[in-house]
Amino acid sequence: MKNTIIICCLLLLAGCGKPTATQVYTTCDMTSIYSHTSFPVGVAVDAYKLQTNDQYRNIVIAQFNSLTGENAFKFESVEPAEGQYNWTETDYIADFARQYGKRLHGHTLVWHSQLPDWVPGYTGDWRSMLRDHITQEVGRYKDVIHSWDVVNEAFNEDGTLRSTLWLTHLGTGYIQMAFEDAHAANPQAKLFYNDYNLEWNPQKLDGVLRLLTQLRAAGVQVDGIGMQMHISSSYPDISLAGDAAKKIANTGFLVHFSELDVNMKEPDSRTLLSADEQQQQARRYAAVFTAYSQLSPAQQFGITLWGVSDADSWIVRGLPLLFDNNYTSKPAYCACKSLK
Ligand code: G3I
Repeated sequence: MKNTIIICCLLLLAGCGKPTATQVYTTCDMTSIYSHTSFPVGVAVDAYKLQTNDQYRNIVIAQFNSLTGENAFKFESVEPAEGQYNWTETDYIADFARQYGKRLHGHTLVWHSQLPDWVPGYTGDWRSMLRDHITQEVGRYKDVIHSWDVVNEAFNEDGTLRSTLWLTHLGTGYIQMAFEDAHAANPQAKLFYNDYNLEWNPQKLDGVLRLLTQLRAAGVQVDGIGMQMHISSSYPDISLAGDAAKKIANTGFLVHFSELDVNMKEPDSRTLLSADEQQQQARRYAAVFTAYSQLSPAQQFGITLWGVSDADSWIVRGLPLLFDNNYTSKPAYCACKSLK
C-alpha cells in the first residue's frame, strides 16, 4: 500500500508544470513574465512605438528583461547610403535599454532581406563593404549590445546555403567573415546564427550545425543559434522543437527562441479569438516555455517574443502574441508565467 501511495505521488509530481491538453489559463497577476522564468524573456521592439505609445512602452518596461530591435538594426535602417549611417532609431533603443537596464540583442548584421537600395548594384569591394558595416555597427554599441544575430536565414530548407548576394559576391566563406568581423569589433559579444524552421526541419538544422561546428573547429567564435519559432496554432509539435533545441544545446551552442509567436491564422474579418482559441494558443505558449525550461541552464539564452501586442505583429490578423489589439493580456500571457 505504502509503495502504491509513493508511486501515485511521483506520477502526480511528474505531471506538475507540464501543460495538459485540457489545462485552462485564466487571469493572473501582472508581475513581469521574466520573474516567473529562470531565463531572460525578451521582446522585439520598435523605436517609434516606444516613443509614442505609452501602453506599448509600459508593457516593455514591466514585462521583459531583454530587447531585440525588430527592424532598427538592420542594414537598410542603419546604412541607407554607402558609408552614411543613420543611428537615430538604434541610438534610441540603445539608450532605452541602458535607462531601463534591459539586455539588448542585436538583429541582424548580414541578411539577404531589408538591404538598402545601393547594395544590390554595389560595384566596389564587397569584403571591405561588409567589414565596414559590421565594424561600425557592432563597435558603436559594444557597451550595451552583448549578443548579435550575425547572420540571418542563410540556409535553404534542404540544408544547403541559400543563394544570396553575399554568397554571390563573397563565396561560401562570407558567414565566417561576418562572424570574424563581429568578433573583432566586440570580442566580448555572444555571436549567433539565426533562422526559421529549425524547430521542425532536421535537414536544415543539420546543415546549420555542420557549418557552425566547422567554423568553431577552425577557431571562429560562434556562440549560439537562434531558433525563430514562428509557429502556428497546431504546427509543429512542440516536442520536435524541444528535440531540436536539445540537439543544439548538446552540440555546445546557446539556444535562443529568438522570434516566438503563435499564429492563429484568423480569417481576415475577425479581430478576436474565441475562448477555445485563446486556450489553444495559451497551451501552445505554455508548451514552448516548458520545453525551453528543460534545457540545461548553461545553454539557455532566453525566449524573445516577436512583438508586444497583436496590433504590432508582422503577421497581419494572425493574433499571435501575448497582448491583444488593445494591449490587454491574453490567456497566453498567463500561460508563459505558469512555469513557477
Ligand atoms: O520603414 C518603412 C516605412 O518607411 C514605410 O512607410 C512602410 C510602409 O511601406 O514600410 C516600412 O518598412 C517596413 C519595415 O518592416 C519597417 O516597419 C516594411 O515594409 C516591412 O516589410 C518590414 O517588415 C518586417 C519584416 O521582418 C521584413 O522582412 C517586420 O516588421 C519584421 O517583424 C520582420 O522580422 C523578420 C526578422 O527580422 C527575421 N525573421 C523573420 C521575421 C518576420 O519576417
